[in-house]
Amino acid sequence: MKHIIVAIDGPAASGKSTVSKIIADKLNFNYIDTGAMYRCITLLTLESNVSVDDEKEISNLLNKCNIHFEGTKCFLNGKDVSLAIRGNDVTKNVSKVCAYKDVREHMANLQREMGNKESVILDGRDIGTNVFPNAHVKIYLTAPVEVRAVRRFLDNKQKGIESTIKELEIDIARRDYLDSHREIAPLTQAKDAIYVDNSSMDINQTAEYIINIIKEKTGVSL
Ligand code: CDP
Ligand code: CDP
Repeated sequence: MKHIIVAIDGPAASGKSTVSKIIADKLNFNYIDTGAMYRCITLLTLESNVSVDDEKEISNLLNKCNIHFEGTKCFLNGKDVSLAIRGNDVTKNVSKVCAYKDVREHMANLQREMGNKESVILDGRDIGTNVFPNAHVKIYLTAPVEVRAVRRFLDNKQKGIESTIKELEIDIARRDYLDSHREIAPLTQAKDAIYVDNSSMDINQTAEYIINIIKEKTGVSL
């Protein structure tokens, strides 16, 4: 196998990015946070005072949206936006902006370019179904929305982002709905993805569980 592609899809706050980072570290794979890329174009839209309803103007912004990653840090046009893209305004609007055709095509092409170079783990919503339908390993990671809302609440608290569990539950359910019902590349479990409900697993147990699947499917070793 030249290089391995692992796709981790699933709804918000199921643990995809935390688990993907651990796995990437252990297996020495590159990690691509595709949600961060959609958050970047949303941040740029808001900062440019472009309406999130203005699909045409947002398409024009795509060629002014240079994204790169340095380790776990995300840079937009050379500026570290790792924290800014997690803000409430971006979170509220990202599912609208990311549903536009040009936005999806642009980001999916960038993801394919990055992923075609080396062994990589990508987390998102449409990796196994759309971006890399031939990925060697596909995981659909999920947990009930109540569990995910508490996880995100603790996350936000640590990052100094204000929120309540109830608000988060509503926002996560709203985002899951929009992400699952959009026309282009909606969130759905790929037919050949392995379903993992990690409500009774912690982060390390989830990572271990998925690493074993990767080993089994690809023969990769630590
Ligand atoms: O971390 P969280 O689950 O809150 O979200 P994220 O992974 O950062 O993704 C933010 C948003 O980007 C999602 O709610 C989706 O609307 C969108 N997204 C997408 O459409 N396709 C992807 N491959 C990744 C994210
Ligand atoms: O990337 P995604 O939105 O799917 O989720 P995340 O940002 O990786 O995880 C959300 C939060 O849940 C993080 O603080 C994780 O540490 C936590 N988490 C957990 O406590 N137990 C799990 N089994 C999975 C995630």
